[in-house]
Formats: sequence, structure tokens, C-alpha cells
Amino acid sequence: MNRILNFSAGPAVLPVEVLSKAGAEIVDYHGYGLSVMEMSHRSKAYSDIQDETEQLLRKLMNIPDNYHVLFLQGGASTQFAMIPLNLMNKNHTADYLITGSWASKAQEEGARYGDARIVASSKDKTYTYIPKTTKADYNPDADYVHICTNNTIYGTRISPDNLPDVGALDLVADMSSNILSEVYDVNKFALIYAGAQKNMGPAGVTIVIIRDDLLGNAMECTPTMLDYKIHADNGSLYNTPPCYNIYICKLVYEWLDKLGGVSAIEEINKVKAQKLYDYIDNSNFYHGTAEKEYRSLMNVPFICNNDELNAEFVKQATARGLQNLKGHRTVGGMRASIYNAMSMEGIDTLISFMQEFAKQNG
Ligand SMILES: Cc1ncc(COP(=O)(O)O)c(C=O)c1O
Repeated sequence: MNRILNFSAGPAVLPVEVLSKAGAEIVDYHGYGLSVMEMSHRSKAYSDIQDETEQLLRKLMNIPDNYHVLFLQGGASTQFAMIPLNLMNKNHTADYLITGSWASKAQEEGARYGDARIVASSKDKTYTYIPKTTKADYNPDADYVHICTNNTIYGTRISPDNLPDVGALDLVADMSSNILSEVYDVNKFALIYAGAQKNMGPAGVTIVIIRDDLLGNAMECTPTMLDYKIHADNGSLYNTPPCYNIYICKLVYEWLDKLGGVSAIEEINKVKAQKLYDYIDNSNFYHGTAEKEYRSLMNVPFICNNDELNAEFVKQATARGLQNLKGHRTVGGMRASIYNAMSMEGIDTLISFMQEFAKQNG
């Protein structure tokens, strides 16, 4: 087996144990004589898989009983529309905190359905920080407040102890790139959503965790498939769900559960990220682009002193099997995405390579 170290922002690295187990079960799942890919979504075998997946996620995130867990399609981007269609229904106005391109896309989509007000934005400094807000900044009439807890491109995060004080307003969070990476209290959110392809499984399934009282108020014009209540009432089986992707999520959740759950991976993630940031900060050769206070545990953008060096770094790293390190075009340089499945050894190998490259080019 010859696997690269995959620092991709997503679709991203998955635990080898998960891939191996999926491989072993691919032709004949648990003696049923067929693959999960071939199963009817109405079969008992499949419905057991989906139930177990949901129960595992509930356990890992400590999801209270008054929340539904939905397995949807269309990626996190479809949520940008589903959220206003379903939630912007009382005062037709919502508040958005703009901390990156994805948050901005969510706001732009929200503006198609009502007044999507920008509370604050960090665009002035290429989203290198999280704007500070107080309760007074939020519109007390807002139907919800939308935030993105981890800005994949810019490497900033709103940590669990830095959530905005929105008072009694409903907080909606895009957790696509840091779900299950550290402990967030689900009770603080009205709705959490995440595409699977960073910390949970393959692209194609989107997890939505929604408080029950928010169901059943969709705008008149809402397409059936975009109504949360339809999916909640049908156990995410209104139409054919992405069965195989959900099954892989189950394996990832089992892997995480065995490891000790979210609090255990949080400790590991903090050590991994700190190691990398400490090296960058002490190197005099590399520079982190995000403000220290807001640094992500999942996406670490950094640059060398000029574009030629950046390009050379990516080229040499790729040749050594450290791949997908090129930064997003809006930030430049490099970005190491170090999701749950990136091992400590992977971080050590990256730092060794960075040291070597700095020595040769410094
Ligand atoms: C924070 C965040 N939100 C939304 C998206 C869009 O997700 P999707 O491609 O599943 O629509 C991404 C994708 O990278 C992301 O990182």
C-alpha cells in the first residue's frame, strides 16, 4: 500500500481503517450477499445502517432529543437556499456574519428570499479574522443568525467559546469543515449543517441537525425536496438517499467513537494544529496568514516570502507524496488541511519537509 499524505481541503483524507473496512465489506455486506451500493433504501439491512449512523452521530455530538438529524443531498451549498426557504418565515429578515467566501455565498443566496442583512464582515482584510460583535449588533427581529464556524479557505474559526452572543435569536451554523473536530454544544444552535466530505465521509451527503420547532414553516414556494419537514417526516427517505455515502459516514463515526469521541479528537487536533503553528511562527521562513486569535484547527494557510518559493514548495512537496498543499487562489501560498483523519505522523512529516525546504531555500 502506498498512500500519499493528503492535505486536501475536501474531499479529504479518510481513516485507512474505514477504507479497509469498506473494502472488505464492498462485495458482500455482513452476509447479505450484496453491496450496500446495491441495497434497496427500503430494505431492513439498509434501514439498520441509517439508524445506526444517526444514533452514532447523536452520541458523538450529544444531540438532544428535540432535534432531528437529516441526511440530505445537494451539498452545503443547497443549504444556503434551504435555510432561508424554511426559516426566513416570520419577519423575512436574517442576519449574516461574513467571515469568508462560503459565508458570503450563503448570504447572497439568502438575499434571494428576503432581507439577508450583513452584520459584520472581515472582507476588508481578506477574511483573516473574525469580526467582534455584541448582542446589540444583531437585529432582534432576525429570523435567524447565520455563521460559519470554520472558514476553510482562510483558516479561521469561531471556536465553541467564541460564539457570538445573539441572545434569544436562532443561531444557524455552517460546520462543513469543522464538524466533529471539537465539542460544540448543539443546544446553542437552531440548525447545524455540514457537507460530509471533510470530516465525515465522501461528498454526496449533507448532514442537517435541526431543532424540531423549526420544521413545518417553509415558504409557500419551497420545492418539496427543499422542505426540511418532508425529510424529517420521512426519516430522510422521502426519495433515495445516498446510501453508500451514509454507510461510510457510519464507519467514520464508529472510528471516531472508538477513539474516544469528539473530546478525544479535539485534544489530538489541538496538539496537531499547535505543532504546525508553532513551527511556522518560529521559522522566520513561513508566515501564517490568519490572525492568531482566530486560527482554525482544520485548515492552516501559510506562505513563503515570494510566489516562486511557494510554487517550488508545492512542487517538491508533491513529489515527496505530501499532496494538495496549494493554497486557495484568493489567499495564495499553501494550505495544509489537517482534518480528524490526518495523523500526528502526517503533521510530523510535513514539518520535517518544511524544515528541510527552509534550510535549502532560506
Ligand atoms: C465552510 C464550507 N461551506 C460550504 C461549502 C460548500 O460545500 P458543498 O461543496 O458541499 O456545497 C464548503 C466547501 O468546501 C465549505 O468549506
